[in-house]
Amino acid sequence: MLTKIALALDIADEENISKLLSLLEPKPHIIKIGLELISALGIQKALNLTQSLSPQSEIFLDFKLHDIPNTVTKAIKPLLQHKQIKYLTVHTLGGHKMLTEALKAVEGQINLVGVTVLTSHSEQEIKTDLNLELNSLSQNLVKNAHLAGLNWLVSSVWECLAIKQKYNNFKIITPGIRFSGQNKADQARIASPTTALEQGSDIMVIGRAVCEAENPQMAWQSLLKI
Ligand code: C5P
Repeated sequence: MLTKIALALDIADEENISKLLSLLEPKPHIIKIGLELISALGIQKALNLTQSLSPQSEIFLDFKLHDIPNTVTKAIKPLLQHKQIKYLTVHTLGGHKMLTEALKAVEGQINLVGVTVLTSHSEQEIKTDLNLELNSLSQNLVKNAHLAGLNWLVSSVWECLAIKQKYNNFKIITPGIRFSGQNKADQARIASPTTALEQGSDIMVIGRAVCEAENPQMAWQSLLKI
């Protein structure tokens, strides 16, 4: 069961990372590292640390690349030397050319994951800020990712079923996971772990639901029972 979970290690110091990972058994199959950790430690140190604390874990590098195709390609190339990186995010808003070039750049070594509409955006916010409908924005981004040849997406749990009904190639990673009664914080389109599985999530991202739980060990273990 825990194979369907990526632990979001959004923690900026080594001591707290060590403390948390020492509590979690079984160790996460996938550890997601991103801007917060890498800004603090740098990528090499972050990779060394996760490797030493949880050697079997695959690394999901959540860089959410969104730039011109040339820059994205050049940002990806040096990552290929880190063999433990198995997933890397790019924004699908980057467009067809950027996505196809990024796909070429990973050389089949890393799963390129297209981020669609962030789970922190509510339907209302998309309407007010961009004058767009969440569903049509999400559908257009998914279509572009499909045309570019991606096989992995990040979406909220609530878009999963519709995407899977339309395209059978996509595997979907879903952030915005909360246990019942937990604080949404900055997330808008949240769902429980059980709902995520029911809606067809392939991998759910679990961050503060475990890392900031009163008892992270218990919260983690409760995922085993889903
Ligand atoms: O703590 P929480 O579980 O809300 O953290 C979610 C994690 O997933 C964060 O690291 C965030 O950057 C990431 N993420 C997200 N929504 C996306 C893509 C990634 O929340 N659409």
